[in-house]
Amino acid sequence: KNGYGTSKLKFTAIAPVDAAVDAFTVPEGFTWQPVIRWGDPIFNDAPEFDLGKQTAAAQERQFGYNNDYTDILEIPGSKGRRAVLFANHEYTNEGIMFPTAMPAADVRKIGAAAHGLTVVELERRNKNTPWSYVKGAGLNRRFLNDTPYELTGPVAGSPLVQTKADPAGRTILGTLGNCAGGTTPWGTILSGEENFNGYFVAPGTSDKDKRYGLTSKPTARQWELDDPRFDTRNADSANEANRFGWIVEVDPFDPTSTPKKHSALGRFKHEGANVIVAESGHVVAYSGDDERFDYLYKFVSKDKYIEGDRKHNMTLLSAGDLYVARFTGSAPAAEITGTGAVPSDGGFDGTGEWLPLVVGGVSQVRDMSVEEVLVYTRVAADKVGPTKMDRCEDVEPSLHTGKVYVACTNNSDRGKAGKEGATEINPRNENRDGHIVEIIETGDQTSTKFTWNLLMVCGDPAQGDVTYFSGYPVDKVSPISCPDNLAFDSVGNLWISTDGAPSGIKKADGLFKVTLEGAERGRVEQFLAVPRDGETCGPIIHDEERTVFVAVQHPGEDGTFDAPLSFFPDYVPAGTAPARGQARAPRPSVIQVFRTDD
Ligand code: FEO
Ligand code: CA
Ligand code: CA
Ligand code: CA
Repeated sequence: KNGYGTSKLKFTAIAPVDAAVDAFTVPEGFTWQPVIRWGDPIFNDAPEFDLGKQTAAAQERQFGYNNDYTDILEIPGSKGRRAVLFANHEYTNEGIMFPTAMPAADVRKIGAAAHGLTVVELERRNKNTPWSYVKGAGLNRRFLNDTPYELTGPVAGSPLVQTKADPAGRTILGTLGNCAGGTTPWGTILSGEENFNGYFVAPGTSDKDKRYGLTSKPTARQWELDDPRFDTRNADSANEANRFGWIVEVDPFDPTSTPKKHSALGRFKHEGANVIVAESGHVVAYSGDDERFDYLYKFVSKDKYIEGDRKHNMTLLSAGDLYVARFTGSAPAAEITGTGAVPSDGGFDGTGEWLPLVVGGVSQVRDMSVEEVLVYTRVAADKVGPTKMDRCEDVEPSLHTGKVYVACTNNSDRGKAGKEGATEINPRNENRDGHIVEIIETGDQTSTKFTWNLLMVCGDPAQGDVTYFSGYPVDKVSPISCPDNLAFDSVGNLWISTDGAPSGIKKADGLFKVTLEGAERGRVEQFLAVPRDGETCGPIIHDEERTVFVAVQHPGEDGTFDAPLSFFPDYVPAGTAPARGQARAPRPSVIQVFRTDD
């Protein structure tokens, strides 16, 4: 299915944008507009967004904050005129959302209601017009902290997840810290529960608490004051934190469905998960644990995918095998100097293996049961010697080639005193700008052996950074730093969105297209840049319609409510009264970018 370079989405790369610029920058011939913004009313009874006068009741009926993963799926039979949008809401930035005079209890409750997930219907007149969201549409849904999730797989019912409120250990309320995600071949959405630890006060003394970053300090948002389950020092909710850190699956086409948390994929700071159907019919899900020196995982389903049998396919992530990755380099260790300089054999590459944690329903880890391996997956993985990575963010297989791409966003601690130093797979000490790993499974996608190479070592060659772009001339690429979410276009080019470029190469974060095959392999072209302090999320590449979508997360994050640093996306001029539903303040939003000549 290779058709590299034949994409209908042609553009001339934008110049890198200075990190202080508060603008959404697109290539010549393109324009942009929001699909949906923080506070936009989802339901017919929802009030218009009113900055500074927000209430929890309003927020529960409006689009949440800090959209990260998003996808848009066409509604079958709608002739391309109707679609459903999914977005998760990773966290909140209370300091720029609410006036300082707002009572703390209100801030807590509104902030809580701005977390979770949203499903909302979109419509357009025809394929050449931009999408609008449909207030009050039948599939519209908010998932809040009291939304029940069904825990599936070996941990369901385990004493490790039982609480006083849920003695059966099968029904979990809410989802937290949702970061990247993926869309399954059967049309459901996966979302990763990442930094869930920040929502809990814990004893913080056990090795397990420490391994997951759980401490006894009051949390930043202090929800524990309103809901004792967020304080796991209470016997009644001692296991509550074990009920977060999972991969969530949502059916956006059924507003009455119960979302699931899949324990068979393990519990860690899941960045997200992406699924591919192997030749054998088993489905394989890849998932990174986004923490400095943590690991890369792969799940292989017990049962096989059945084309067209959605009900069956929705059970596939409930049972299967779990592995963690070990990478071996091919270059002599002396050639890995920690600068990111290429070894003498011309590239970064080697072999690898998937180390078993659970296989055939049996624990492969000494002194740990299957339930323990899946609840304390980091602890289990520590025992089998996987490779400590530079913060795996999105991990996504190409459906064109089966090759798997791993965004290692950065790792400021690599090579520091007492920490592991550079190796061929993570070749830079104090890795500020990150790199991308390419994995080629040996044979079927379910294999336990693979080869790997680095697609790129990120940075800005023009500023003198040591970089590598698979041999593509470094003076002909867009500078790129801190890769995070990944996506593919219809002809198999990789698209990378970034989070952290302002502190890396001092440029705004953005979205980049990367050619993977042929003479131009490694060519990086910047498509857009996001406003001040914003992170580029999503992304969705509908190149056949010459349209790209990104979720802009935490614009203006380093400002205050009284002194905003971003006015995205409404850009209401100073001294002008905002129109109804608009605000002179930063609002995380899902944005569509499209050609002006359509
Ligand atoms: Fe929420 Fe790993 O970024
Ligand atoms: Ca991320
Ligand atoms: Ca992705
Ligand atoms: Ca990130």
